[in-house]
Amino acid sequence: MTSTLTVRPLTASTLSEHLDICRTAFYGEPDDPAREAQLRMWDPARFRGAFDGAELIGGGGIWPRRMTLPGTGAHSFAGVTMVAVAPGQRRRGALTGVMRSLLHDLHAEGGDPFAALWASEGGIYGRYGYGVAVERLEIEIDKGARFLPTVDTGTDRVREVSREVAEPLMRELHAKVAAQTPGWLERDTDAWHYRLLDGTQQRNGRQAFRFAVHPEGYALFRMHQRQVLAVEVHELVTTGPVGYAALWRHLLDADLAGLADYWCAAPDDPLPHLLADPRAVRRGRCDALWLRLVDVDRALPLRRYAGPLETVLELTDEFCPWNAGRRRLRIGADGHAEVTRTEDEPELALSTTELASAFLGGVRLTALAAAGRVRELRPGALAPLSRAFLTDPAPHTIENF
Ligand SMILES: CC(C)(COP(=O)(O)OP(=O)(O)OC[C@H]1O[C@@H](n2cnc3c(N)ncnc32)[C@H](O)[C@@H]1OP(=O)(O)O)[C@@H](O)C(=O)NCCC(=O)NCCS
Repeated sequence: MTSTLTVRPLTASTLSEHLDICRTAFYGEPDDPAREAQLRMWDPARFRGAFDGAELIGGGGIWPRRMTLPGTGAHSFAGVTMVAVAPGQRRRGALTGVMRSLLHDLHAEGGDPFAALWASEGGIYGRYGYGVAVERLEIEIDKGARFLPTVDTGTDRVREVSREVAEPLMRELHAKVAAQTPGWLERDTDAWHYRLLDGTQQRNGRQAFRFAVHPEGYALFRMHQRQVLAVEVHELVTTGPVGYAALWRHLLDADLAGLADYWCAAPDDPLPHLLADPRAVRRGRCDALWLRLVDVDRALPLRRYAGPLETVLELTDEFCPWNAGRRRLRIGADGHAEVTRTEDEPELALSTTELASAFLGGVRLTALAAAGRVRELRPGALAPLSRAFLTDPAPHTIENF
């Protein structure tokens, strides 16, 4: 960072200034209703700004949230959000200074042991030790696609209702699925309000939110006039196969529409398994949640693993050097993990970025080894550790924060 830049916590007035920078950086609308919610929800002290003298040029902050981890339910984590640097002030090290301050302060204060974010571009966050932990599937399917004759859509009707009627049902269904699915976030009243904001900015040329509900799930969607009228699904949350099939049937049979798409399906989304022709669903895969182990010793024991297993890891971590060094990882038959420092011979060498990618069970360490990012120092050590991190259900996430 050039010597003229300093990084410090924001105040109420500099948070407001930072939101102006974000609006410019994300090409937002001046009347975005999100701004008022952000100022109400977020603690300026959890934000860091980069200043050139007295001038704020960029920043980013933490929205404290809770995420479900494999086998242990919801845990608080640092949800990194609103990262932006003013156009014309970029590539001076402002983001690096802000990232350093956020992560180093979390460590110094014994705060959340892991952080997560959604990246606007894929090339930004790897240098700060974030790894892709959950991917998403973008799916698109033409109207009327046929299901297999064995698919049961049940007898309950899917109803389209007002937000007032839908919201309590959505909250209940979302909470059930979130508790069972690694990577999902709990939503409090503020988070629900934020998610359901529906101004010009959120609509982005599309129609208002619509709400389809069923006893086993809901779909939050908008209609969008493209070359054909499209049903754009924003959330599809279901607790059972009948609700899942019934809601998709409803969306695929929408009169006047030509297709339906969903931006954030799980990588193993069951839709192709329902279809008479599984190729009818077009799929694209993309990174969703990036994760950073702030304190590897406190983070790894938070979840359960497929044990028993014992190994020694040689860890590197340039951006958060307190994580570097050798660790013995002991996983009991009950899945509990214990992490201790050791001088014993390591069996695997990797950085905490690879561990962050594997942490929710969404990326295999064997795949990272095939990319040369995990080195097996004792033959046979890799596969059992890779298996120990896997989870069922696979992690998924539906909320871009
Ligand atoms: C992304 C952004 C915050 C980067 O801020 P910045 O202050 O320019 O970043 P820095 O100067 O600290 O750059 C640090 C490093 O990241 C690299 N980098 C920054 N933005 C990058 C991008 N979009 N893609 C790839 N690399 C990027 C820089 O080249 C630099 O590399 P180096 O360390 O090898 O020299 C800024 O470009 C921005 O506001 N973009 C628009 C909004 C946005 O996308 N925000 C992120 C939301 S998740």
